[in-house]
Amino acid sequence: MLDIGQIEKLLAETGRGLASVFEVIPDMVFIVDRDENVLFVNQVAARALAKKPTDLVGRKQSEIFVPALAARHSQAIQQVFRTGEILMTENQQDLHQLPVWIDTRLVPFRDPAGTIVAVVGIVRDVTVRRHAQESLALREAFLRGMLDNFPHMVWFKNTEGEFLVVNQPFADATGKANPSDLVGLDDFAVWPHDLAKGYVADDEEVMRTRQQKQVEEQICDHGEFRWVETFKSPVLDANGKVIGTTGLGHDITQRRRLQEEQRRSREQLRALAAHVESVREQERVRIAREIHDELGQSLTCMGMDLAFLDKQIDPQNREAAARVAALVELVKDTIRCVRRISSELRPSILDDLGLGAAIEWLAHDVEARTHMTCAVEVPEDISLPFELATPLFRICQEALTNVTRHAHATAVSIQLECQDAQISLVVKDNGRGITDEEIQRHGSLGLLGMKERVVLLGGTLEVKGRPGEGTILAIRMPLHS
Ligand SMILES: Nc1ncnc2c1ncn2[C@@H]1O[C@H](COP(=O)(O)OP(=O)(O)OP(=O)(O)O)[C@@H](O)[C@H]1O
Ligand SMILES: [Mg+2]
Repeated sequence: MLDIGQIEKLLAETGRGLASVFEVIPDMVFIVDRDENVLFVNQVAARALAKKPTDLVGRKQSEIFVPALAARHSQAIQQVFRTGEILMTENQQDLHQLPVWIDTRLVPFRDPAGTIVAVVGIVRDVTVRRHAQESLALREAFLRGMLDNFPHMVWFKNTEGEFLVVNQPFADATGKANPSDLVGLDDFAVWPHDLAKGYVADDEEVMRTRQQKQVEEQICDHGEFRWVETFKSPVLDANGKVIGTTGLGHDITQRRRLQEEQRRSREQLRALAAHVESVREQERVRIAREIHDELGQSLTCMGMDLAFLDKQIDPQNREAAARVAALVELVKDTIRCVRRISSELRPSILDDLGLGAAIEWLAHDVEARTHMTCAVEVPEDISLPFELATPLFRICQEALTNVTRHAHATAVSIQLECQDAQISLVVKDNGRGITDEEIQRHGSLGLLGMKERVVLLGGTLEVKGRPGEGTILAIRMPLHS
């Protein structure tokens, strides 16, 4: 096998020498002697100076370059002659007025006695590499600036769940001074065990499904639990392989608190409304009974006494007879009026005969007062407790009032069903049809009151209208609310 010495000898003997090797090197190569005469330049170097090698060989380097550059070259060349050491530099030069980055290696070339007779220069244009490095550094600085100034927590974990990049807000939340303190740690090293378990499970799901996941979760910030809305996403490489996960979390503790307060105050309002409603209903029952029993009783007695008086009156006394007869009529009217008021307050039929009969009574009332027909379908054996019968009756009453007042309908139907421990009530008319805007409008309390009653009993209310085809109001609620 040949050794490098033999190769060198061969090169010399074949007359090619090192120059033939230098010609195929993609870098610029030159050789100068102690007086800085150019002994050799390869094609690459000559081309960089927009010359031919023959234009350059035999000239001094100071004749080729501008004085300032030539002085710098001279200093470097002479340093190699002086020290006998390879000199490596990377600096910016103006080549044809274009700033370029040049990597230069100056190598001493010795004769057999060891005396340095020349310097070989190998020069490489590293502008592209320098620019790439600079733009990478710029991009990193930009990203870091963005991340650390972003008002939410951001992190990037590898498939093992170890943090690769986190931003300052994330470091703050974990109690670490710098984002770099978290690099290489996993969730278990950062968060309480139970929380970490949940985060790891989420990451595994995100990597398995390759889908973004949005969660509202808790973090423990300096011993205090806070709510965070987090978007977790898989990170894929250029080949589509999952290489980790990223997360973006923003603190929603304040929002959650407000929501919680809102929910609580809505519940309190609802409870208050229910209480007021129930007190009102009991009051109605009491007043209706009192009017009916006390007033009704007295009026009936009055009527009987008047009938007695009527018989005692001398038929000749026409005026007295007429007055008594008028009084008898007045008492009869008053009794009817008292019954009506009492029924309107709370129909005794609801307490005495139940919801079915009360609905039938409502329907008769509607038919008697309007030109609408009112069909009723209720199960015969329905028996509901006061707490269910009352709201259902009131809902029916309001629904029929609405049909009478707003629908311009000719027919309305009421259907009540009890099945599978569910009650369903449907009131349907053939009128103009309620509009979406009317359903959503604030300010009208009829629909709202119905809805509140239904929600309190754990049910649902649906109102739908079709222009010209009528309105359907459907309620479903559990039988044992
Ligand atoms: N069956 C119906 N057909 C057509 N429009 C209806 C029907 N029921 C309700 N509406 C419309 O929906 C609106 C809201 O009804 P809601 O019962 O809430 O209020 P209201 O009847 O106007 O007033 P109140 O508070 O006295 O009940 C009504 O004003 C009416 O425009
Ligand atoms: Mg109404």
